[in-house]
Amino acid sequence: EERADLAGRHVVVSAGGTREPLDPVRFLGNRSSGKQGFALARTAVARGARVTLVAANSELPAPAGVDVVRVGTAVQLREAVVEAAADADAVVMAAAVADFRPAVYAEGKIKKRKDAEPEPLALVRNPDILAELSTDRARAGQIVVGFAAETDDVLANGRAKLARKRCDLLVVNEVGESKTFGAEENEAVVLGADGSETPVPRGPKEALSDRVWDLVALRFP
Ligand code: PMT
Repeated sequence: EERADLAGRHVVVSAGGTREPLDPVRFLGNRSSGKQGFALARTAVARGARVTLVAANSELPAPAGVDVVRVGTAVQLREAVVEAAADADAVVMAAAVADFRPAVYAEGKIKKRKDAEPEPLALVRNPDILAELSTDRARAGQIVVGFAAETDDVLANGRAKLARKRCDLLVVNEVGESKTFGAEENEAVVLGADGSETPVPRGPKEALSDRVWDLVALRFP
């Protein structure tokens, strides 16, 4: 099965999960392994694309032929994705990005104060990278794809998220403590801004990736 339908295209994929540091030894993070984003990168290379993969805290090795930029926090991920997106035909945000980060970074390890109640943790908003990419397209006709990790009311939440973020496609997948995060397989419904709904049955993360690239390729101007 040889397809080169992404030849001549530059695509940007984000993968993994951001970590928002509290102090030199602690962070707020999530369970993303990077497997879904790395599968998107591998399948795009196989279809002829030039691929930039912005990877947040993933243990996975760089796939052959992919330009990998490693980042830690949401702010770093935003900077790397926005830079790579400048000349991209498509951007796919598979990374699990923290919506909030600690308001203060403690230069020294936060101490447990004997007999005292813990301090409440103050958070501030992180940039919404997907909404920004969708609203201020770096190029006319650039295709922007988001993922939605939902635990309940999966489709209804997905539709609302698609409208809010203004992306072209939203891959809605159900997640749980050991569901999808870190798993080899995924299952999803890909929602289109045009009202389309493409269900993708459970299978390897590569198979879902190929369906996503099919839908992206159809939308190229
Ligand atoms: O890495 P794996 O272990 O293979 O797991 C894959 C996955 C579950 C991480 C992946 O399939 C997935 O669902 N990724 C999106 C996770 C997520 O952050 O979903 P969300 O519903 O919180 O965010 C919606 C979209 O907005 C995402 O495209 C996200 O990248 C983006 N976002 C979110 C917050 C933020 N501040 N900026 C963003 O750009």
